[in-house]
Amino acid sequence: MCGIVGYVGNAQAAPFLLDGMSKLEYRGYDSAGIAVYEKDGIRVEKCVGRLDALRHKLEGKMPVGTMGIGHTRWATHGRPSDRNSHPHTDESGNFVVVHNGIIENYLMLKEQLIAKGQKFASDTDTEIVAHLFADFYEGDMEEAVKKVLRTIEGSYSLVFMCKAEPDKLICTKKDNPLIIGLGEGENFIASDIPAIIAKTRRTYIMSDGEIATVTREGVWVQDINGTPITKKVFEVNWNAEAAEKGGFEHFMLKEIYEQPKAIKDTMRGRLAENGTEINFAELGWTAEDFTGISKIFIVACGTAYHAGIVGKYYLENLARIPVEVDIASEFRYRNPLVDANCLTIVISQSGETIDTLAALKEAKRLGSRTLAVTNVVGSSIAREADQVVYTYAGPEIAVASTKAYTTQLLVMLMLAVYVGRLRGTLSEAKAAELAEGLHKVPEQLHDMLENVDQIKVFARNYGSCLDAFFLGRSLDYAVALEGALKLKEISYIHAEAYAAGELKHGTLALIVEGVPVIVLATQEDVYDKTVSNLQEVKAREAMVIAIALEGDDSIAKYADHVIYIPRAGKELAPLLAVLPLQLLAYYAALTRGCDVDKPRNLAKSVTVE
Ligand code: F6R
Repeated sequence: MCGIVGYVGNAQAAPFLLDGMSKLEYRGYDSAGIAVYEKDGIRVEKCVGRLDALRHKLEGKMPVGTMGIGHTRWATHGRPSDRNSHPHTDESGNFVVVHNGIIENYLMLKEQLIAKGQKFASDTDTEIVAHLFADFYEGDMEEAVKKVLRTIEGSYSLVFMCKAEPDKLICTKKDNPLIIGLGEGENFIASDIPAIIAKTRRTYIMSDGEIATVTREGVWVQDINGTPITKKVFEVNWNAEAAEKGGFEHFMLKEIYEQPKAIKDTMRGRLAENGTEINFAELGWTAEDFTGISKIFIVACGTAYHAGIVGKYYLENLARIPVEVDIASEFRYRNPLVDANCLTIVISQSGETIDTLAALKEAKRLGSRTLAVTNVVGSSIAREADQVVYTYAGPEIAVASTKAYTTQLLVMLMLAVYVGRLRGTLSEAKAAELAEGLHKVPEQLHDMLENVDQIKVFARNYGSCLDAFFLGRSLDYAVALEGALKLKEISYIHAEAYAAGELKHGTLALIVEGVPVIVLATQEDVYDKTVSNLQEVKAREAMVIAIALEGDDSIAKYADHVIYIPRAGKELAPLLAVLPLQLLAYYAALTRGCDVDKPRNLAKSVTVE
C-alpha cells in the first residue's frame, strides 16, 4: 500500500508532488521518491525514510520541470531501501512508473525479461512494469500501457511517464484507488483526495480497467479496447482545511474531537431531525427484502471488525436475525456457509482494505446479497457491493481509527432499528426511544470532550505500564476489544480485552499488583456480575479504572478511579464508552513519546493481504 501523485501543468511539478505526498503519508511512509521531466530528460530522486528525508536530499537541488510523478511507499516486495523506493525505471531511465499494489506474476515476468538480457536494479514487483512499458513502447504510450495491462496480474494503481512524450502522463487502476484532479491548464493524479484538495475540488474517480491520458490541456479516458469513456465530474464537498490538523497536535486528537459532528453528519437524512423515524432512502428496503434472508454475515478487519461485533448484538437483538461476524482475512479462506439466503455486510473505513474487498467478492461469488458500510465515496468496496451505506465521518488521516468507528456503530444501530421495524421485531416505542437517545449523542460526546483532564492524569500515571487489561460483558466486552486495540497500536503497551466472566478461566493468572485493568460497567443487565469480576481483579491488587454510568456511586467503592459517561441506554452506551478509551490510548501514547498518527509498522489503508 502506497500513495501516488502526478502533476502536469505550467507550474513547477516538484512542490506539488512533495506537498501531495505529505497528505498521503498515511498510506505508507517507509520511503519516498519523485520523477520530474527536466530539460534533458527525466530526473528521478528517491530515498528510504519519511518524506522529510527526501525533502532534505532535494534541498538546493529541486528538480525543475512542469510534469512529474511521486510516491510514498509502504514496503511489500523488497525491504525499505533507496533502491526499492519508487519511481522505478527501465534500464535507460526513459520509462518511469509509480505503483500502488502488488504485481502477482512479477517473478515469472522478471525471469522472462532477464532471459532477454534485461538487468534489474531493485527487488520490487513494480520494476518489471517499467521494463515491460519500455519493451512494448513503439511510439504510442497508450498502446504500450494497454500491452502492459494485458501482461500483468494483480492489483495496481499506476502512473506512467516516458521521455519520448514530454507532456503526457498515463494512469490506470485495478483494485486500488486512483483519482484525477481537474484544474485550469493543469491536472493532477493522486491515490486520494487530500493530496489534491488544495488545488481543485473537481475530480474523476477512476474505475478498474480505465486508462486515462492526462495532459495540461485535458483528460481522456478509455478502456483497454480503446473505447472512449465519459467520466462524471465528482465534486469534493469538503475543503482543504478538513484534511489538515485544524489546530490539534495530532490528526488522531482532531478526529476524536470531530466525533460529535461525524455522528450528526451520519445521522443526517436518516434520522428525522425533529422526529424519531429512521430510514435509509439509499437502501429502499421493504419487509419482503428480508423474507428469504436467514442469516447475516458481518465481515471486516481491525476496528471495523470490532464495530461489526457491536453490530451483531444490535441486529440480533433488535431485528432478530442470526448474525455471524468474521475477520475478513479468515472469512475468505474458511469456506463459509454463505448462499443466496444471506446478506453480507462488509464494514470498512477506507473502502480499500484488500482482505475486506476479497471477502466481499467471495460472498458475492457464493450468491449472497451484499451491503458495504464505508466512509469513502467511490472506494473499491463501495463500488463492488450491491448496496452502500456511507458513514459521513469525513477524511480519517490518523492511522488509528476513531471517528470512523463511532460512525460505524451508529450506522449499525440505525440499520438494526430500520430492519427491526421492517420485520416487525422492534416495537415503535423502543425504536422511538432509541431515536430520541441518538439525537442526544452528539451533545453528550461534546460535553465529555470538555472534561478530559482526569483522563490525561490517568494516562500520565499509568503510561509507563507494560500490560493493561480491558474487561466488560455484553456490549461492554465489544467496546473493550476496541479499547485494547487502540492502546496497543499507538502506545505499544501490551493490552488484552476479555469478556469479564472469562478472565477466571485462565487470564486471571496475569493479574498482579498494580496492573491497570479498565473495567467497563455500562450494561445494567449484567452490572452485578461485572462488578463481581471487578472485585476479583481488585482482590489481586490490580489498579482498576471503571467506566461507569453517571450516578453510579457504588462502583467507586471497588475501583481505584471511575470515569463516568452519560446514562444513554444500553444500546447507545458503546458510542459514549469508547471515547474515554480512545483518549486514554492517545494520552498514554503521548506520555510515552510515540508517533501517534503514524504508529510503527502500520499504515492507514491496508491494500495487501
Ligand atoms: C485500527 C485501524 C485498523 C482498521 C483496519 C480496517 O485503529 O484503523 O484496524 O480498522 O485496518 O480498515 P478499514 O476500516 O479501512 O477497512
